[in-house]
Amino acid sequence: MATVKWTCNMIATTIFLSCPLVLECKKPPHIVFILADDFGWNDVGYHGSEINTPNLDKLSAKGVRLENYYVQPLCTPSRNQLMTGRYQIHTGMQHQIIWPCQPYCVPLDEKLLPQLMREAGYATHMVGKWHLGMYRKDCLPTRRGFDSYFGYLTGSEDYYTHQRCSHVPPLNVTRCALDLRDGEEVATGYTGIYSTQLFTDRVTSIIAKHNPEKPLFLYVALQAVHEPLQVPDRYITPYSFIKDKSRRLYAGMVSAMDEAVGNISFALEETGLWDNTVLFFSTDNGGQTLAGGSNWPLRGRKWSLWEGGVRGVGFVTSPLLKQPGTVNRQLMHISDWLPTLMGLAGGSTNGTKPLDGYNVWNSISKGSASPRLELLHNIDPLYDDIAPCPGMGSQGSVSTASVSGIGFRSWSNSGFNVSVHAAIRNMQWKLLTGYPGCDRWFPHPGLLNSSGARSFESSSDNPLKPVMLFDVEADPEERNEVSDQYPDVVDNLLRRLDSYLKNSKPIIFPDDDPRCDPATTGAWGPWE
Ligand SMILES: *[C@@H]1O[C@H](CO)[C@@H](O)[C@H](O)[C@H]1NC(C)=O
Ligand SMILES: *[C@@H]1O[C@H](CO)[C@@H](O)[C@H](O)[C@H]1NC(C)=O
Ligand SMILES: *[C@@H]1O[C@H](CO)[C@@H](O)[C@H](O)[C@H]1NC(C)=O
Ligand SMILES: *[C@@H]1O[C@H](CO)[C@@H](O)[C@H](O)[C@H]1NC(C)=O
Ligand SMILES: *[C@@H]1O[C@H](CO)[C@@H](O)[C@H](O)[C@H]1NC(C)=O
Repeated sequence: MATVKWTCNMIATTIFLSCPLVLECKKPPHIVFILADDFGWNDVGYHGSEINTPNLDKLSAKGVRLENYYVQPLCTPSRNQLMTGRYQIHTGMQHQIIWPCQPYCVPLDEKLLPQLMREAGYATHMVGKWHLGMYRKDCLPTRRGFDSYFGYLTGSEDYYTHQRCSHVPPLNVTRCALDLRDGEEVATGYTGIYSTQLFTDRVTSIIAKHNPEKPLFLYVALQAVHEPLQVPDRYITPYSFIKDKSRRLYAGMVSAMDEAVGNISFALEETGLWDNTVLFFSTDNGGQTLAGGSNWPLRGRKWSLWEGGVRGVGFVTSPLLKQPGTVNRQLMHISDWLPTLMGLAGGSTNGTKPLDGYNVWNSISKGSASPRLELLHNIDPLYDDIAPCPGMGSQGSVSTASVSGIGFRSWSNSGFNVSVHAAIRNMQWKLLTGYPGCDRWFPHPGLLNSSGARSFESSSDNPLKPVMLFDVEADPEERNEVSDQYPDVVDNLLRRLDSYLKNSKPIIFPDDDPRCDPATTGAWGPWE
């Protein structure tokens, strides 16, 4: 009984204006969370993209568009925070992503969102990309709270063969092997089916089979629109006007993804679940400009702490929303979903470690102020930018040497080592230290020509400094560096970084394990 009452109270305070009698309370809502991969700021129709996304536009127009919403700059970290509600510095996963042969996963003593959902009485299903570690079976989605799972465990693969090719460094060989599982079993027989279609079919079948009496938690982590650039021709046809080939293929992939989201929402409507569903849509990080994505006019891209890497496309839509059709400019972050979803579910976050996320539902549903005033983007003392950044030589990557700080003011009072890659947001202020990653303002995609060539704005007028401060509310493009004008703000934020660093877990980033070799089993998967 206690559980039921709690549920109703939570629902009452979150969605409905009043709930006088417990028995009149509605059931906890179905929760569908769709996570797109590498979907850039300028790649959704409602941000003015040349790519058509009628379903995302329509669904978000009936919902709440989140325009001050942040994600992590990379796949594993965003998914990690979605599942734990905790910053990377608190799980030891502040460096890069989990590569296929690395023997680690989200620490097993972290309680994950689907476990909490299950405890709150939900059926829990996941379809798509896991990328939170799989070296042992205990790390798999089905061992971490999901009743069912259909998808792939690594970070990327072929959309049709569902094979991942990866170098196995300790063996000095490159292996291509299947990465697709149904539950914990290797799933064969799906070769040739485009993954956006394959995953959507699985999602709609879960929806069709679901008993509407039980609340549903469905996590859809689409492969789209991460590279490789692959898509059935019919999706590219409308984009013959796009000269740059990568962008054209990418646009087709986005259209397929948009259709997938449309099909999922249609399935929810057809089964009647929609009337009591809250649907969340989010990207996992900024677009990858090397693979067709665009974050214009924001600076940087995936793998960087510039706005282009971390300001995410996101919206919430539901017939239960009190203020449909609104744009929300309150500060929110992907770590906020765990407590927010648990609030909606009427569940408890009992058993989690201290959360960094906030329940932001009141802000979404009523437009009230976000409880989040500060956001730690990350601190990663081992940061390296592995992709070529145009204009930075053939290697592209830059060491912290290029921001050595010679000739700049020194900020030594805080005790924070300003050569370390880090960024923090507080109210309108964003402070970056060390090398934040590729810092270009990539041009509007309309300026790309057939060779993909383009001119890049020189950053010589904007030399990187070891400490940079921006008012990102007024200056989301991070063009006007103001650390000299606001030394007190800088000092305070450096102190905040220092305090976060002192309370951070050591980085977990183990060497590759040769036992990952899929040669014997024919599939990537647990080896321990
Ligand atoms: C790895 O293999 C390649 C050929 O496949 C060879 O050229 C290279 O020397 C090898 N590297 C090491 C470290 O053994
Ligand atoms: C969406 O549904 C339509 C109609 O059933 C189907 O033709 C199309 O292939 C589906 N697309 C995806 C991506 O699931
Ligand atoms: C939290 O969980 C523990 C066991 O995991 C249980 O003993 C405790 O009563 C729970 N607290 C609440 C408030 O549910
Ligand atoms: C400061 O951080 C940089 C980059 O992580 C590192 O190379 C350097 O050794 C650090 N300096 C000190 C004094 O710890
Ligand atoms: C493409 O743009 C680049 C940079 O602006 C220019 O150098 C190149 O000539 C252009 N190529 C074509 C085919 O227009």
